Amino acid sequence: MTDVLITGGRIVTAVDDYVGDILIRDGKIEAIARKLEVPSAQKYQASGLLVLPGGVDVHTHMESRQGIAETCDTYESGTRSAAFGGTTTIIDYAQQSKGESAIFALDNRLALAEPQVCVDYSFHLILTDINPEVLKELPDLINYDGVSSFKMFMAYPDILMVDDASIFKTMRAVGSHGGMVNLHAENGSVIQVLIEEALAQGNTSPKYHALTRPTIMEAEATHRAIRIAELAEIPVYIVHLSAKEALDVVVEARDRGIYAFAETCPHYLFLNIEEYDKPGFEAAKYVMTPPLREHHCQQALWRGLKFDDLQIVATDHCPFCFKENSSGWHRSKQVGKEDFSKIPNGAPGVELRLTLLYDGGVRTGKISLNRFVQLTATAPAKMFGLFPKKGTIAVGSDADIVLFDPNKEHILSAETHHSNVDYSLFEGRFITGKVEKVFLRGELIVDGDRWLGNKGKGQFQKRSASGTF
Ligand code: URP
Ligand code: ZN
Ligand code: ZN
Ligand code: ZN
Repeated sequence: MTDVLITGGRIVTAVDDYVGDILIRDGKIEAIARKLEVPSAQKYQASGLLVLPGGVDVHTHMESRQGIAETCDTYESGTRSAAFGGTTTIIDYAQQSKGESAIFALDNRLALAEPQVCVDYSFHLILTDINPEVLKELPDLINYDGVSSFKMFMAYPDILMVDDASIFKTMRAVGSHGGMVNLHAENGSVIQVLIEEALAQGNTSPKYHALTRPTIMEAEATHRAIRIAELAEIPVYIVHLSAKEALDVVVEARDRGIYAFAETCPHYLFLNIEEYDKPGFEAAKYVMTPPLREHHCQQALWRGLKFDDLQIVATDHCPFCFKENSSGWHRSKQVGKEDFSKIPNGAPGVELRLTLLYDGGVRTGKISLNRFVQLTATAPAKMFGLFPKKGTIAVGSDADIVLFDPNKEHILSAETHHSNVDYSLFEGRFITGKVEKVFLRGELIVDGDRWLGNKGKGQFQKRSASGTF
């Protein structure tokens, strides 16, 4: 592999900010200095650009089934889309079916993803059936397979939801091995009552998805998750936190010295409940769980990001096509046309995380440039055992590097994104700041609008136990 030299860029990590040159050798960062001379190296001039560590998105759902629907990004299209957005590592999900071995579930997902992935990847293991055999598998998953995080759902009764005893047992089983538990925290049983009431009253439109998932039921489950983790003496990570009430619970726990962590997602930072007032069935595009919240929640989330009450921004990329199409209407949002509770839950976003957060967070002064890198790369890599291989620009780290033009203006649209999904949550939004070049372990895979990467080139990342916080 030829050496690569990136010269004159503004190198930004979670703590640093300086102009310098980076030498890449055999896919890793070999040297960083004010000035480097390597005549044989392939050179990329980066003056005027930000040189950032490749993004780490720890919440995506590629080729993921939900009832009869399936997300419309394959591991190939989804990871290509991620790359165009400056994300060079994703953590997706392997899901244990009821009665199934967790290791078997992991092996199946690996076989599906491996020939397709365009960026580096790992899986969290979703547990849906916690029994003595599965609990015995968990230490091996952590210690040998490098899968050190396990997700459970407190929502979606009869499908994914597990009870508190299962959560507690899992936490105890993985805690002593340095594993991490992720929770989708909403009170699924109470929400189910509200859904049934709404439908009985003939309230079938997408807006009722939001109205039947109140913020205090997110707060309740968040509280329960943290308290159970406290008893099990294990850190806990709340995925896709959306509500101020839930954030308050996280803050309260952290103030008591509990290892409670949470991520939020760009859609909760930039959109609010008014999207559900869109005419016709348009609002179905915004049916994700938790739903979009009221405006005051956004303000609380930004504050949380700023003061480290929220540690990570991940996308929860879960794209279901809006329109019926040749790949089968049953995969689209239209399945819930007559009944909001049947609309597949999830929205796209894997490509937009960096550009949105830069434009709407850094440029507006809500977060610093260093904090932006921390939220999108360093903290996720640390939390889930990928650091320092991933998540920073340092000698010895993988040369996953994004050249980002802080002044480039563009308009977000489904016409120009690289996901298979047929809509954008942010259609027509004017943005300043764009990913220009992306290197994956030293190989240029994105160059402006050109795709230079290859499917199957992404490498599975065995993650270490015990993230560092
Ligand atoms: O609406 C969402 N978030 N769909 C994906 C599944 C989940 O709950 O993360
Ligand atoms: Zn979820
Ligand atoms: Zn309000
Ligand atoms: Zn999700």
